[in-house]
Amino acid sequence: DLSNSSEEVLKGIVAITGKTPIFEKLDLREKESVRSFFKKHNDVSGVIHFAASKAVGESVGNPLLYYENNIASLIYLLQELSKQDKANFIFSSSCTVYGQAEEMPITEDAPVQKPMSPYGNTKKIGEEIISDVAKVTSVNAILLRYFNPVGAHPSAEIGELPIGVPQNLVPFITQTGSGVRQELSVFGDDYPTPDGTCIRDYIHVVDLAKAHVIALQRLLNGKNLEKIETFNLGTGTGSSVLEVINSFEKMSGKKLPYKIVPRREGDITEAYANTDKANDVLGWKAQSTLDEAMASKWEPILSSPI
Ligand code: UD1
Repeated sequence: DLSNSSEEVLKGIVAITGKTPIFEKLDLREKESVRSFFKKHNDVSGVIHFAASKAVGESVGNPLLYYENNIASLIYLLQELSKQDKANFIFSSSCTVYGQAEEMPITEDAPVQKPMSPYGNTKKIGEEIISDVAKVTSVNAILLRYFNPVGAHPSAEIGELPIGVPQNLVPFITQTGSGVRQELSVFGDDYPTPDGTCIRDYIHVVDLAKAHVIALQRLLNGKNLEKIETFNLGTGTGSSVLEVINSFEKMSGKKLPYKIVPRREGDITEAYANTDKANDVLGWKAQSTLDEAMASKWEPILSSPI
């Protein structure tokens, strides 16, 4: 619905792939629009559902926006998909469902915990809805639990373009590096980690995108072992906030102004993926390192119109 993006992105997709995608502007919260879409495009063989909101703070302030956008839309999509003889569905889930896992790295079998935000809850509930629906309908689904996606396509034709002040670490770093923001705040250096800052698993967005193609092919080729499969999408390596800053400075040649401030409420100490299942069963492995992700040509993206 372009509420958080721009039609300009289509040009980037054409430039990268040489293919012009069919674009339909619609709001998935409107049940009738979803129904008309599937009527018009009755040859849809699979759906990759990216159209959710993901800002944790915003979800705390406006939970109904998140429950409507992330849950109602999902229900309308599944209602249409379950009418098909065989439906294939890829869901963007999040490592947020693990909360602060007890053991690192985190396997897909780690217990799902009570989410810390309405956003996190929509991912947990979303997974549950899909599992319930898959049990009794034609829907086959793969739940992809993203760790921390970062970076941009190497062409700089498309990449993350947050509207307003970014809440996530890497967009804040790139905006600070380019002078849009004055200084980065590091949220706490008193965590029980080697340098005291939080540890996350930063995965290059192109690696993440490729996992979706492989996942959809898996369903289309009937290679899935169960009607619902879950995979972690991470690199398997944890990096601290200070390591991310160092990587940015090394790759950009710029000094990044930052200060240590108190912890951010709701942050967990560490989260990084065990990627064995994604590697061995899905047949996918992240290729890019943190340095490569931080070397993304983000400047043209920052200055592109939205
Ligand atoms: C956050 C969400 C997660 C969501 C993901 C979406 C929380 C608690 N979790 O993950 O559910 O799926 O975004 O991309 O919000 N940091 C700073 N300074 C900043 C920004 C971040 O020091 O200005 C630190 C944070 O304390 C954290 C790390 O950088 O340790 C990564 O933060 P962020 O990019 O917001 O991701 P998560 O919190 O891991």
